Amino acid sequence: MTTYNNLIDGKWVPSASGQLFENRNPADDRELVGLFQKSTRADVQCAIDAAQRAYTSWRLVPAPRRAEILLRASQLIAERKESLARDMTREMGKILDETRGDVQEAIDMTAFMAGEGRRQYGQTAPSELRDKFAMSVRQPLGVSSVITPWNFPMAIPSWKIAPALVCGNTVVFKPATLTPLSAVNFVKILEEAGLPPGVVNLVTGGGDEVGDALTAASEVKVVSFTGSTGVGRTVSEKTAPSFKKTHLEMGGKNVIMIMDDANLDLAVDGCVWGGFGTSGQRCTAASRVVVHEKVYRTFLDRFVSRVKRLRVGNGLESEVEMGPVVSRAQLETVARYVDIGRREGAKLVCGGNVLSSGSYAHGYFHEPTIFADVAPTMRVAQEEIFGPVVSVISCRSFEEAVAIGNGVEYGLSASIYTQDVNRAFAAMRDLYTGIFYVNAPTIGAEVHLPFGGTKNTGNGHREAGTAALDVFSEWKSIYVDFSGKLQRAQIDTE
Ligand code: UN1
Repeated sequence: MTTYNNLIDGKWVPSASGQLFENRNPADDRELVGLFQKSTRADVQCAIDAAQRAYTSWRLVPAPRRAEILLRASQLIAERKESLARDMTREMGKILDETRGDVQEAIDMTAFMAGEGRRQYGQTAPSELRDKFAMSVRQPLGVSSVITPWNFPMAIPSWKIAPALVCGNTVVFKPATLTPLSAVNFVKILEEAGLPPGVVNLVTGGGDEVGDALTAASEVKVVSFTGSTGVGRTVSEKTAPSFKKTHLEMGGKNVIMIMDDANLDLAVDGCVWGGFGTSGQRCTAASRVVVHEKVYRTFLDRFVSRVKRLRVGNGLESEVEMGPVVSRAQLETVARYVDIGRREGAKLVCGGNVLSSGSYAHGYFHEPTIFADVAPTMRVAQEEIFGPVVSVISCRSFEEAVAIGNGVEYGLSASIYTQDVNRAFAAMRDLYTGIFYVNAPTIGAEVHLPFGGTKNTGNGHREAGTAALDVFSEWKSIYVDFSGKLQRAQIDTE
């Protein structure tokens, strides 16, 4: 059995704790994927110190040179895409097609950010005074803490680490305890691509010990976190006293709105993919579907009959369409919400059960589940479940769909199926979310556009796209006076 170490200051080292934790396959928990370091605050401090030392020289490496390393990393990830995807399916369960997509997203993001090595454009502006030059430039912040979830084990780390590096920051990276192997794989590639020691450090372990140390440390200048809204709130509280820049990407309760003029077959395809892709474990998952009453029955019948045929199983098998959920705890959460939905009067029209016999016996499998006739106020229509459960809600009009769509505490992604361009544009404007789709489901964001949400989904930042540069750099305004005399802004107006 392979034991994986932390990466601190360019060396793969065990934790000072001498303790390990297990990483098991959620499709068959008899399979141990690897043993990983259960790190302590002392390990985190060593990593932070290393990152701080590395920062003194990394920030001075020209950005296009930093970018060359990212470009090489992108190529190496592409060469190893298949084995990286297999490792990922083994450790967190989503089907191979999807883990290939996850790895592809890391390829795309590192390549995209490599391009930013030759941009990171600032502004030049005329000065109000004679013989004076004004400009703004991006500056790195220093040591960055990167804390990532298990549902996109390589994509999301790349969304954070690639922009952090190209801007000239150094990184201490804590991946989710459920997906440390993909994190090790990613960091090894960065190392192989030529990243100097200490520029990226990897510390595995739990949120209480490692995460806490990474958010509280005064040497850390920016924290980028993706995870639940509950944990995000704690991160925010920990970082507030030192005023460190904090980027939070949290929960979602995303909606697909289907209008009476929609192409229903297309909408069904979108709801199956948006609701049950990654077993519903995406922050962008389409966990609510609001359907115009005129097409409600037809849509529901087609949706249910499609979902009943979804093949659930081990994601490494080619015919499987939906894998397990990630852990026993997640399975229990899903089962609990199915029970809540039943008790609050939602109509269970598909699935609803944990799968535990035969080939499912050793995994965390749940039937794809649909609740119909759901009231928008029910808990299953309000709370993030993060599992294969979709709530279908009827509406009487476009306006009502928009009101239901907006009527949750989150604001990540939303979509509309309609042929009416006027409705499409009104929805684009009126859904208060960070991401919006027309005639496509709520999932499928591309790396070169900003990613993030409103309300309890985020704290005003966006990652991905050039928006990520705003998280990992700060503006410096520079004035160069070449007049040879004192000129007083706002006073010497001539
Ligand atoms: C997530 O929803 O947790 O937009 C991340 C998508 C992916 C990333 C999703 N590119 O579906």
